[in-house]
Amino acid sequence: MTEFQNLVIAPLNPVHDRTGFQCGVEALDRYLKKQAKQDMKRRFSRVFVASEPDKPKAVLGYYSLSTLSIELKKLPAKLARTLPKHPVPAALIGRLAVSNAAQGQGIGKILLADAIKRTLGVSDQIAIYAMVVDAIDDNAAGFYKHFGFTRLSDDSPRLFLPLKSIRL
Ligand SMILES: CC(C)(COP(=O)(O)OP(=O)(O)OC[C@H]1O[C@@H](n2cnc3c(N)ncnc32)[C@H](O)[C@@H]1OP(=O)(O)O)[C@@H](O)C(=O)NCCC(=O)NCCS
Repeated sequence: MTEFQNLVIAPLNPVHDRTGFQCGVEALDRYLKKQAKQDMKRRFSRVFVASEPDKPKAVLGYYSLSTLSIELKKLPAKLARTLPKHPVPAALIGRLAVSNAAQGQGIGKILLADAIKRTLGVSDQIAIYAMVVDAIDDNAAGFYKHFGFTRLSDDSPRLFLPLKSIRL
């Protein structure tokens, strides 16, 4: 198994060739090709792309990051009881994907860690209680659960992880 030690993870920029990206989930391929650039421009999302230093065009994976607030009633009741009675500030990984050819080599884990590190970095300036992810299907949910994320509720595609429980 190849471990990518020298990945560059940088904001999506014109050098990245988005046209051939395929991760096995069409909606995630389409997002990168058609919408990511516009979301960046409008400041709706930040999109970060992983590539190798000597092949800067080739997109190995990406994730999108934005903020959201979660209504207290959407959190598990046991946790909600311990929190102040207003919406909970969070960072959202809306999408995260690794190209078919690069899957199973640690890049998903590196992207997730990068998103968490960036979030921890800004959380000293802007309060963020938890990392939230939108899992596109059960396979994706399995990936996030592997790292300790739990469902907001049984009928939600969202999973979360309080920042205070993260040790990188
Ligand atoms: C899910 C996805 C992001 C994982 O990326 P990846 O680079 O293949 O995963 P990694 O090689 O970094 O795996 C890291 C760890 O997660 C585990 N893992 C990977 N996919 C998993 C899954 N679906 N369920 C449970 N665990 C999973 C690996 O076994 C590995 O465990 P280890 O660190 O203990 O060895 C990738 O398969 C993908 O892009 N799939 C299609 C799109 C998608 O489902 N995106 C999810 C968010 S919407």
